[in-house]
Amino acid sequence: MRIVSGMRPTGRLHLGHLVGVIENWKKLQEEHDCFFFVADWHALTTKFDEHEDLKANRIDLVKTWLACGIDKSTIFIQSDIKEHAELYLVLNMITPLSWLERNPTYKDAMQQEEYKKKNNAGFLTYPVLQTADIILYDAELVPIGEDQRPHLELAREIVRHFHFLYKTEIFVEPKELLTKFPKLPGLDGRKMSKSYNNSIYLDDSEKEIADKVRKAKTDPARIKKTDPGHPEVCTVFDYHKIFNSDEVAEIEASCRAGTIGCVACKKRCAEKINEVVAPIREKREHLKDEEILDIIEAGNSKAREIASKKMAEINEIIF
Ligand code: TRP
Ligand code: SF4
Repeated sequence: MRIVSGMRPTGRLHLGHLVGVIENWKKLQEEHDCFFFVADWHALTTKFDEHEDLKANRIDLVKTWLACGIDKSTIFIQSDIKEHAELYLVLNMITPLSWLERNPTYKDAMQQEEYKKKNNAGFLTYPVLQTADIILYDAELVPIGEDQRPHLELAREIVRHFHFLYKTEIFVEPKELLTKFPKLPGLDGRKMSKSYNNSIYLDDSEKEIADKVRKAKTDPARIKKTDPGHPEVCTVFDYHKIFNSDEVAEIEASCRAGTIGCVACKKRCAEKINEVVAPIREKREHLKDEEILDIIEAGNSKAREIASKKMAEINEIIF
């Protein structure tokens, strides 16, 4: 099946991205025809006023994908394929404003001062651009997280509307592939996010990982090593569940019995996380910009060929 998904180049990737998105992409590419792209125009919908890092972030994002093992997919840059903009324009003509105004992601954002202040047209039409990204390639499946479900629903509505208006069946109605992944909290127990400053990044050094895990939130009821612990309220234990499945049962038992101290437990946790991050970090260091640009160029060519053919067919129907 044809799969398309994108990620905005808004900065370094962390462990949450790895277990939530990239591990899933890696599995999918084994069985499907996957297209993964850098959604730089989407990043611009919110970051148009702080765009300085965007250019470097795009390459860096691809570098991390490659280092993580995304090596059997077509990788491309959204803004290099102008047909995304062309189809976005066309879809904007047929999309009722009311559909966009009732989009929950938009409504949520308008509750926040930061977005309310900007309230730019491109932000409102974000899901229209996302629809173009998907249907240009006849994607059947779109791997997304829960927060993106309304966008996929809109994409299907826009497809049906286009088909109705122009008496055609030119597009594939995309289905969502909801990514069920283990919830990975940040070091403070909240969602792992750059803005909370609670993340472990995929290019953190061994020492940075150890330092961060040492400061992670644990069971507040444990003061002495012999105090019985409650792993269910401990962030470090959540990490053990995901990155140290071999020892998790033993750690749970000794935490409850008060026979393992948090210092030792965290040290073990940091080692396990480093085992996951080290190969990514090292591959990142060895990847040359030239190599990355070549991969992007090859992916762009492949994407462009499909997109331009599709766009020609679309124009044929309208004009
Ligand atoms: N909106 C998506 C996100 O923020 C990124 C994205 C852009 C995307 N275009 C897409 C995802 C097309 C899937 C398909 O996560
Ligand atoms: Fe958490 Fe480990 Fe301390 Fe138990 S021993 S509270 S699991 S850090």
